[in-house]
Amino acid sequence: MSAELLEIARAIAIQAGELAARRRAEGVSVAATKSSSVDIVTEADRETENLIRSLIAEARPDDGFLGEEGGGEGGGSGLTWVVDPIDGTVNFLYGIPHYGISIAVVEGDPDPLTWRALAGCVVNPAAGETFTAAAGAGARLNGRQIRVNDAVSLSQALVATGFSYTAERRVEQATAVTNLIGRVRDVRRMGTASLDLCFVGCGRLDAYFERNLNPWDHAAGALVAAEAGAFVGGWNGSPAGREFILAGHPELIRELEPALVESGA
Ligand code: IPD
Ligand code: CA
Ligand code: CA
Ligand code: CA
Repeated sequence: MSAELLEIARAIAIQAGELAARRRAEGVSVAATKSSSVDIVTEADRETENLIRSLIAEARPDDGFLGEEGGGEGGGSGLTWVVDPIDGTVNFLYGIPHYGISIAVVEGDPDPLTWRALAGCVVNPAAGETFTAAAGAGARLNGRQIRVNDAVSLSQALVATGFSYTAERRVEQATAVTNLIGRVRDVRRMGTASLDLCFVGCGRLDAYFERNLNPWDHAAGALVAAEAGAFVGGWNGSPAGREFILAGHPELIRELEPALVESGA
């Protein structure tokens, strides 16, 4: 079942990635702003989500759908597709070749605190990379199995994070990073949460944390990281959600989590 769902997610994410890459090549501009003047959406975000929504409705008419741009729609099957059509919209706008089409399918209410993710795919069309994972079946990059890095000590860890779109929140988040930076190898802010999680899964990062994510930002990437052997959760072993998400080798997380608390993350 999960394997079939993954194949649907993968095929649709690749098609959506081709559309996004075409739109990028034609030139992109801001269509509207959302929660703040820096929280932007382009026509390509909307168009890509519409394409994904219609392809999923065709393949799985009884499933629900939750997308960043168009919102949610229930279904009768108990499964919901959780979609970020372009994760890393600001990178996309500037032509930074690091953005993701993120598609996951989850069982239960579309709430990360309780859902069970069955399959997830994140495609970065600009890099020709496709990350996939199915529950219990491991994680892959372009078809090859991936694993998290072996545990390193906190002082040797390359840690990624992200910032919210509201000034007040991001100043708090940056203050926590200021407090952490002297205790780790370095910090990255690459601008695409789904790929941050996939990068933990394939060893390009040791760990990743962020506050205030939406379900579509992490649904697929969290499954990729977890299936690659990472701990993925919130504070104190609670499930990852809007409050907090933390991912990395379980032994590193034992050192990183208290350091984040001390940093005020
Ligand atoms: C954003 C990106 C970014 C993260 C933000 C997200 P969007 O998603 O994933 O890396 O730091 O919290 O909102 O708006 O580009 O889809
Ligand atoms: Ca996103
Ligand atoms: Ca997005
Ligand atoms: Ca957005």
